[in-house]
Amino acid sequence: MKLYFVGIGPGEPQLITYKAYNILSSVKLLFYPTGGKNSLALKIIENFFNLNDKQLIELYFPMKKSETLKEHWEALSDRIFTFLQESKLGALITLGDPAFYSTSYYLKDFLLKRGIVLEVIPGISSFSATSAKLLSPLTLGEEEAVITIGEKVIKNEELYRKFDSIVVLKCHKFIAPLLAFAQNNNYEVYIGHRVSMPEEALLENPQEIPQENWDYFTLMILRRKK
Ligand SMILES: C[S@@+](CC[C@H](N)C(=O)[O-])C[C@H]1O[C@@H](n2cnc3c(N)ncnc32)[C@H](O)[C@@H]1O
Repeated sequence: MKLYFVGIGPGEPQLITYKAYNILSSVKLLFYPTGGKNSLALKIIENFFNLNDKQLIELYFPMKKSETLKEHWEALSDRIFTFLQESKLGALITLGDPAFYSTSYYLKDFLLKRGIVLEVIPGISSFSATSAKLLSPLTLGEEEAVITIGEKVIKNEELYRKFDSIVVLKCHKFIAPLLAFAQNNNYEVYIGHRVSMPEEALLENPQEIPQENWDYFTLMILRRKK
């Protein structure tokens, strides 16, 4: 039994890697994550792949602290195991690159324990796509960057102001304090919302706190001014 964790990139189908494309074209069993509502990952690929000939299995990943969810991960792994026993091969899609904050990894040990072989297919991360759109690198020469989440930056400003670039995911509830942090510490500010999706919005150095209705699919890149 084998399961691929497939990174599908930030949204634009052309940013799906060739390897991910081949795997997603051929597997008959496709697991997709939801946080309760619709699956954005599934929406991204549904116009690009023929999903009619696939068995689609929803996996619910609650937005809670992972330590409290061991039993849930165990149950999800059982669900995957049950379907894989029949099909032998499947794929679990994940937004961006699985290397960054992908809940799929919470299942890893439980799946391995059940004898499932895992292979991870890297994808283009949301912040790589944003950096490219902005024509702005995250690091050059001897510069250093950090990848983190909004809550961490505002709780430990001292630590984060050491970096030349700060990539802030899960930031939509902290836009105002992050803007203040950037202003006080001489950073350029870039906000990317649903980058490489049809609803994409990109802001550079907003002069006031933007009133847009930012949702979870928002990131910030803070880049030290030269
Ligand atoms: C659980 S993390 C997943 C990151 C993903 N694995 C990656 O490589 O980009 C979810 C966070 O990624 C960011 N994100 C994911 N896709 C995005 C997109 N298309 N545009 C902007 N931010 C995105 C948001 O900050 C969101 O809160």
